[in-house]
Amino acid sequence: MWWRNAVFYEIYVRSFADSDGDGLGDLPGVRSRLGYLRGLGVDAIWLTPFYPSPDADHGYDVADHTDVDPRFGTLADFDALLADAHTLGLRVLVDLVPNHTSEEHAWFRNALSDPDHPDRRRYLFRPGRDGGPPNGWTSAFGGSAWQLDPRSGEYYLHLFAPEQPDLDWHNETVQRDFEQVLRFWLDRGVDGFRIDVAQGLFKDQSLAEMEEPDPPTWHADWVTAVNQPELHPLYRRWRRLADGYEDDRIFVGEIVLENQERVADYVRADELQLAFNLALLWDEWDAAAMRATIDRSHTAMTAVGAVPTWVLENHDVPRAATRYGGGAEGRRRARAAALLLLALPGGVFLYQGQELGLEEVELPDELRQDPLFFHSGGARKGRDGCRVPIPWTTTRPGFGFTPSEPWLPMPEEFGPRSVGAQTEDPASTLELHRSALAHRPTGAFEWLDGPSGTVVFRRSDVVCVVNVDAPALELPSGDLLVASESVADGLPPATAAWVRTR
Ligand code: NOJ
Repeated sequence: MWWRNAVFYEIYVRSFADSDGDGLGDLPGVRSRLGYLRGLGVDAIWLTPFYPSPDADHGYDVADHTDVDPRFGTLADFDALLADAHTLGLRVLVDLVPNHTSEEHAWFRNALSDPDHPDRRRYLFRPGRDGGPPNGWTSAFGGSAWQLDPRSGEYYLHLFAPEQPDLDWHNETVQRDFEQVLRFWLDRGVDGFRIDVAQGLFKDQSLAEMEEPDPPTWHADWVTAVNQPELHPLYRRWRRLADGYEDDRIFVGEIVLENQERVADYVRADELQLAFNLALLWDEWDAAAMRATIDRSHTAMTAVGAVPTWVLENHDVPRAATRYGGGAEGRRRARAAALLLLALPGGVFLYQGQELGLEEVELPDELRQDPLFFHSGGARKGRDGCRVPIPWTTTRPGFGFTPSEPWLPMPEEFGPRSVGAQTEDPASTLELHRSALAHRPTGAFEWLDGPSGTVVFRRSDVVCVVNVDAPALELPSGDLLVASESVADGLPPATAAWVRTR
């Protein structure tokens, strides 16, 4: 049960470390930086998709689930990375993308080539209605979720980009083939999977119309076709399959549902071990909101015997420092939030660069690559700003990420935020994370009373106090373990501290 209290570090492979100078991160690059991650103190890494992909959605359009895209390396590079990670005591999760494939996947090519090809039934092709698509379902990236196949006159479903046709999970061939994908990676020794769009695999077969929030937001529950009851027996089968391997292999579901009781359905004892809890990252810098979110998530997960997880950043959302207002104050709040996150009970997911206090990068529109930007006609800026490569040194233009030009430009301020510049500076955000990871509290969780504008709780003998926006507070007496700022005159606003009290 190594995962119940683990800290996972998300590696957005194309932006982590470039070993061959093409400006794009790769698996040997990740391998070369494993020592850094061990030193940081995380328990596991999650690698975003590195499979062959035409990149309509930066790897989340997979053309072959059991290979490595040559731009990121080879299967031998993957094996070497996995072996080194295990030697260092780091577990490795890979990203499984079962909801859809790339339009370049052999299955979809067959499906388009001949309406009678058996692979056609792996996807959701349907006749149109009244000269238009089969129903009014919309894509998460904007526009209709149906794309016309001009050759046959039928439409196919894509809940994301048109280049990402949705699989029909009611087709047993799809189910059987994905079990082979799971076995392929489990046999290689991976410690588990992050499941993309884990609440979306089966679609409502009646194609009933659903009212989506308009305009779509990150946090409103996506309702079209998702969260179907068939998912639970599927995940029970996957769980049995993984339990057949030694060493506690795990599944982490990307279950994007606001309602935590519904998320909890997926982490019952015989289903997935963990589900991302994205609720905290949707909260503003507001003590009452954060406390309510923590309470709701903790209560819902413990009710089914599961542990909650906590996420403040990933490759789909603006950086925390920017969400919390940006600039010096935003960065200060993000530092305090890091101590909140790392003191909560359960698993924690950190996103690369979060430990450096990176802010969202403003990019000119002509450099944007996210399909969300294009499919929304530019109305939604997309996710490129949090996907800019991370800085290792102060040397421009690649800041140690690449010896050449990075695939997205890295801003000037990445120099002082680089790993090199922050290492051994006790006031740095990187050293704050190192020290928090070294002192991470464990044990029973209990709320403590605090003045309005604060979040205060105990983990066994450690008290975590977050002064969100209250006047300066007196710290509880005891040994100060970690503080996000100087606490010489009490705990000022936008500051957090951990104190061992007995
Ligand atoms: C969630 C992934 O995190 C996101 O990056 C991707 O665009 C969608 N799923 C579709 O695969």
